[in-house]
Amino acid sequence: MRLSRLPRTPLAALPTPLQPAPRLSEALGATVLVKRDDLTGLGLGGNKVRKLEYLVADALARGADALVTGGGAQSNHTALTALAAARAGLSVHLVVHGDPVEGPPRGNGVLTALAGASVTHTHDPDRASVDTGIERLGRRLAEAGRRPYVIPRGGATAVGCVGYLGASLELASQLEQLGVSPTHLVLATGSCGTQAGLEVGARWLQATYRVVGVAVSRPRQECVRRVRTLAGACAELTGLDVAAVGDPEVLDGYLGPGHGTPSPEGRAAAELAARTEGLVLDPVFTAKAMAALVDLSREAAGPIVFWHTGGAPGAFVPSLGPVAGGRG
Ligand SMILES: Cc1ncc(COP(=O)(O)O)c(C=O)c1O
Repeated sequence: MRLSRLPRTPLAALPTPLQPAPRLSEALGATVLVKRDDLTGLGLGGNKVRKLEYLVADALARGADALVTGGGAQSNHTALTALAAARAGLSVHLVVHGDPVEGPPRGNGVLTALAGASVTHTHDPDRASVDTGIERLGRRLAEAGRRPYVIPRGGATAVGCVGYLGASLELASQLEQLGVSPTHLVLATGSCGTQAGLEVGARWLQATYRVVGVAVSRPRQECVRRVRTLAGACAELTGLDVAAVGDPEVLDGYLGPGHGTPSPEGRAAAELAARTEGLVLDPVFTAKAMAALVDLSREAAGPIVFWHTGGAPGAFVPSLGPVAGGRG
C-alpha cells in the first residue's frame, strides 16, 4: 500500500481517543464506543482535519501558494481549510453560496474571519453555485500569476479520502487493544469522502463492522454514487487491491427539515449524548447521525462505533435555515 509514501502535512493530534460510552450504552441497551474525531486538534476539531493533512501536502508538493475552496457560510470544511492554510503558510480563498449574512460573524464565520480568509459570495442560494465559483476563482488567481490548489466542497477527493483510510487503520489498532469487535460504524455523510475512506479501510482490513453513513445533506442515491466513486479513486491512488464498494450503506430519513436545519430527533439524540456522556454534538451533522444510531441500537447484535466527526462551532449557531445558515 502506498499510504505511507503519500505526502502528509501534520495538522492533527492523532490518534484521537476511542472511548467507551457506558451510560449511553446503558440508556440504549447496546454497547456504544465513540471515536473522538471532534478532538483532531486543529481549530475546534472535526473530520476535515484528517483530509486536510493530505490535501495541504498535495498542494505544497505541487508548488501551490494558495488554497481555493468553498461551501456554506457555516461550513466546517471552509473554516478548517482557512486554519490549515494558515498553518502551512498558504493564502486561502473561499467561495460561499448566497449573499453575506447580516451582523457579526458567528460559529464557523468567526474562525474564518480570524484566519484572515478572503471570501467571495456567489449571490446564488444554490449550494452547487459554489462548484463553478471555485473553478472560476481558481482560474482568475492563476491568470493573476498565483499558484492555486482547488479543493472541491467538503474536501471530497481521492486525496482527501486517504485521511480516513488512515483513520480506519488507527481504529483497528484501538479496537484490538480494547478487544472489541463492533458490528456497525456509524457516521454522518455529507460530501461522502469520510465514508469513502472508511469503506476502503474496512475492506482492506476485512473489518467485522458495517460502515453505515447517515445522509445529512444529499439524497441517499447521490451519496451512494459518490461514496462508490470516491472509494474507487482512493483505492487506486493508494494501490489497494480491495473489493469495489458496490453498494455502500447510506441511511436516509434523518435529514429532518433539510441540510443546515436541526431535526427534532437530532435534538433528542444530542440531549441524550450530552446528558449521559457529556458529549457535545452539533445539530447539523453529528446529532442527526446519533439519531440514526439510536434507532440502529435496537437491532444491532454487537457493539457500535459512533464516529464523532466534530462540528462544534455549529452547536452555537441558531438555525437560519438551509440557505443563510447552510453548512455545505
Ligand atoms: C461535522 C461534520 N460531520 C460530518 C461531515 C460529513 O463529512 P463528509 O463531507 O466527508 O461526508 C461534515 C462535512 O462537512 C462535517 O462538517
